[in-house]
Amino acid sequence: MAIIQNSEDLAGSGAASLRDALGRPLHDLRISLLDRCNFRCPYCMPESEFNEDYRFLTRAKRLTHEEILRVASVATGLGVSKLRVTGGEPLLDKHLPSLIAGLAALSGVDDLAMTTNGMLLAPVAARLADAGLMRVTVSLDSLDPDVFARMSGGRGDLGRVLEGIEAAENAGLTPIKFNVVVQRGVNEHTVLDLLERFRGSGHIVRLIEFMDVGNRNGWRMEQVVPSRELLQAISARWPLEAVGKNYPGEVARRYRYQDGAGEIGFISSVTEPFCGSCSRARLSADGVLYTCLFATHGTDLREPLRNGAGDDELGDILRRVWLQRADRYSELRRPDVAAAHTVSKVEMYRMGG
Ligand code: GTP
Ligand code: 5AD
Ligand code: SF4
Ligand code: SF4
Repeated sequence: MAIIQNSEDLAGSGAASLRDALGRPLHDLRISLLDRCNFRCPYCMPESEFNEDYRFLTRAKRLTHEEILRVASVATGLGVSKLRVTGGEPLLDKHLPSLIAGLAALSGVDDLAMTTNGMLLAPVAARLADAGLMRVTVSLDSLDPDVFARMSGGRGDLGRVLEGIEAAENAGLTPIKFNVVVQRGVNEHTVLDLLERFRGSGHIVRLIEFMDVGNRNGWRMEQVVPSRELLQAISARWPLEAVGKNYPGEVARRYRYQDGAGEIGFISSVTEPFCGSCSRARLSADGVLYTCLFATHGTDLREPLRNGAGDDELGDILRRVWLQRADRYSELRRPDVAAAHTVSKVEMYRMGG
């Protein structure tokens, strides 16, 4: 199997010259603000594990906004131009607008987005947009109230999420993307209804294959609905045509409705991995830099940050980490999907989806 699948994309990326061991540029930084969430999606934070006994990070262990801004500033100096704020649930951070303003002010940032479950979005959408947030991605697994309730661990309020989406639309945080994790026997039967609802809205639904991130979500291959299966079912209802990538390293494979009702995307990390063009670094809430969503370890930045490291020193750490990076977990796991799950991986809510 070719290691670099999309080398022509990388060559055309125009990103800074910093390349990892497989020739991939550093382009995105995904920042997890906190490991807490107001939902308990069983595929991410199952209630059985994340209950009152679970110890989330204390405030002292989490990076402060100033520390996050320093890392982001150093990263943009190394060629990062795309920032995404995520969690856990980033809207649990009461001071999010001021962090967004700080991130938006960094030079070289041409995309600043947030991934959220949308439940707390309505009251702050306009403030976030004013602060410089450009767009939001909302996790929305189903519009069927029962399925939605189950997939948010009984904690989500669909009505409030829809209000949040409307507020984001009014605030211009568009195009809004919807992340739909599709699980066999759980929500696959509600996918067409969800697509129908957003056809023609200008928003973009992305259907995500259930991934074996972390070690706590009980992942089994039988629960994955391969994108090609969904593509077939959707095309039978609304003919689709493939569309090229928006930017090098785009995770979603894009399609548009032939009748002009907009576009959708497939994120097929299990059946069609896209490591060859992966240009994403992740900063966890406790300040660890990860170079793969499936990483078993990362590089601590909190200690140097708190021990007075200057920007040059931080830059050297980031540069060294990126130069050595050779991650391509999803490609390597393909031949033996079952065995992969036994590796001790960091949980997604902690490192940032
Ligand atoms: P935009 O195209 O800029 O909107 O960003 P995006 O496609 O990265 O969107 P988002 O951050 O919402 O990511 C969507 C989902 O894709 C995530 O929640 C993950 O499930 C998956 N994903 C994102 N990045 C990676 C990655 O590097 N590796 C893998 N395996 N999955 C990823
Ligand atoms: N598989 C696929 N996507 C996941 N997400 C969380 N856990 C998983 C998983 N196991 C997605 C959620 C959310 C984003 C942060 O990550 O849908 O949109
Ligand atoms: Fe929370 Fe998102 Fe994980 Fe669901 S997927 S538990 S909303 S962080
Ligand atoms: Fe990138 Fe790792 Fe995902 Fe591959 S598995 S696309 S290297 S984050």
